[in-house]
Amino acid sequence: MDTNGKLFKKFLEREDRIANQFNTENATKQHNKGKLTARERIELLFDKDTFEEIDAFVTTAAATSNFGTITESFGDGVIVGHGKVSGRLVFSYAQDFTVMGGSLGVVHAQKISKIQQMALKMGAPIIGLIDSGGARIQEGIASLAGYATIFKNNIDSSGVIPQISVIMGPAAGGAVYSPALTDFVFMTNKTSYMFVTGPNVVKEVLNEDVTNDELGGAEVHSKKSGVAHMMYEDEEHTIQGVRKMLTYFPSNNVENPPIILNPEEKDDYIEKLRDVVPDDPNKPYDVKDVIDLIADTNSFYEISEKYAQNIVVGFARLKGNTIGIVANQPKMLAGTIDINSSIKAARFIRFCDAFNIPLLTLEDVPGFLPGIDQEHMGIIRNGAKMLYAYTEATVPKITVILRKSYGGAYIVMNSKNIGGDFNFAWPTAEIAVMGPDGAVAVLYRRELLASEDPVALKKELVKTYRDEIANPYIADEKGYIDEVIDPAVTRKKLIIAFEALQNKQVSSPAKKHGNIPL
Ligand code: HXC
Repeated sequence: MDTNGKLFKKFLEREDRIANQFNTENATKQHNKGKLTARERIELLFDKDTFEEIDAFVTTAAATSNFGTITESFGDGVIVGHGKVSGRLVFSYAQDFTVMGGSLGVVHAQKISKIQQMALKMGAPIIGLIDSGGARIQEGIASLAGYATIFKNNIDSSGVIPQISVIMGPAAGGAVYSPALTDFVFMTNKTSYMFVTGPNVVKEVLNEDVTNDELGGAEVHSKKSGVAHMMYEDEEHTIQGVRKMLTYFPSNNVENPPIILNPEEKDDYIEKLRDVVPDDPNKPYDVKDVIDLIADTNSFYEISEKYAQNIVVGFARLKGNTIGIVANQPKMLAGTIDINSSIKAARFIRFCDAFNIPLLTLEDVPGFLPGIDQEHMGIIRNGAKMLYAYTEATVPKITVILRKSYGGAYIVMNSKNIGGDFNFAWPTAEIAVMGPDGAVAVLYRRELLASEDPVALKKELVKTYRDEIANPYIADEKGYIDEVIDPAVTRKKLIIAFEALQNKQVSSPAKKHGNIPL
């Protein structure tokens, strides 16, 4: 081809035009807000020089608008394409706020939809980098239809390819529901916010003043609503977080996660495991210390760290293999299960099950959180979510009972009879229908009332209960757990047990789908 010829010049002019769309003026607008441009985000997400853009020259729909103006642009405010993340194929789209506020018009929607369908066909994860004012007002119903198609693609892909949404500016109106349908939502502190209706509408309807950040900032969604799973302080770290999370995942639901061995030898952990749970059964400790001692060095990647902290969930590796960990956290609400922790764990368990990630449960739970609030807000329906998710999951499932394992919570935390493959207990385990205080109060109410020294009697009864009932040996003798183990050998035991389970096959009864209590 004549590269000096007219045809080639035209090609170069078009390339120039794309490059100029990210001119200094537009970039500065983003940078001044502490944000990166869509293209800079893409560069950070993908391995160097691996991103291949498609549909760069697609132009904004020649829609006529009787309300507002439509700025014509190449690309229509969204970059779409594919590249490599840690050497593996990943698809992505990045919205450009400098083109009509990243709003979603018909062409913008078609581009996202096209890349979603490609990701599904190729069995590769998709990452949405979102910076959008929602449905493009000028394009009316066509924008809403565009969102509807994107949501449908999200749902078709759910459980087939990992989907991650990264909020890097506004996600307003329709822009929130695609993230809500994906597996994980990342937010950047102070520069991102998500809401269905913004502060103006809140003011109009309720006459309440609220800022973007107060209404739907990263802190709010990470701590209060649970909408965001991950929060980072700036966009670079947010994108690094996405890259890290992807290392734990298979590309799709028929593959296994990659094996990533840590060259750092794990040392010094064996004796520490014996001391990590305090002798006093009422003394709290941090279950993340147990996780760190068991998992490969520095491999734990926690999800929803700030939300429902009475349960800890996250990915880790055992001898290079990804596992999902669900652990009661005795230092928050004594590790009880409440509505939010059940929902948090259930969603995590279902993700792991969909993507062939074996589950490790670390149990220290005195029961469900009692209270009027919990009962009235539906702990029955919501607590059932975790029970359902565990029971339904067919990936390898192992439980280690560290300490308390009482009542309904014993059943829920992957007990043998709901399908635990290996159930181990430490000698510190207390497995029973209820805790000693409750049991004594129910069974010895009359005796305590009649006693001259009820405090001493209660103390004695509690001791007897602990010795006779609330220990791991009865469950061990009856086969409700498989083995009482020395805490020091836990890591070794788990490596062997997960290896033994790697070809686990389960056939469930045929059905369209179950009916998880939502
Ligand atoms: C068209 C939009 C737009 C939109 C922003 N812009 N949102 N254009 N459609 N939805 C344009 C602005 O007109 C402006 O254009 C440019 O983007 C930047 O916007 P600013 O308001 O100047 O930026 P900022 O102050 O940072 O505020 C950002 C914002 C605000 C909070 C997102 O723009 C806003 O409130 N937008 C509307 C949000 C919203 O209500 N969306 C819901 C749409 S309905 P110029 O030319 O001045 O640069 C919806 C329903 C779908 O999505 C439901 C599906 C379930």
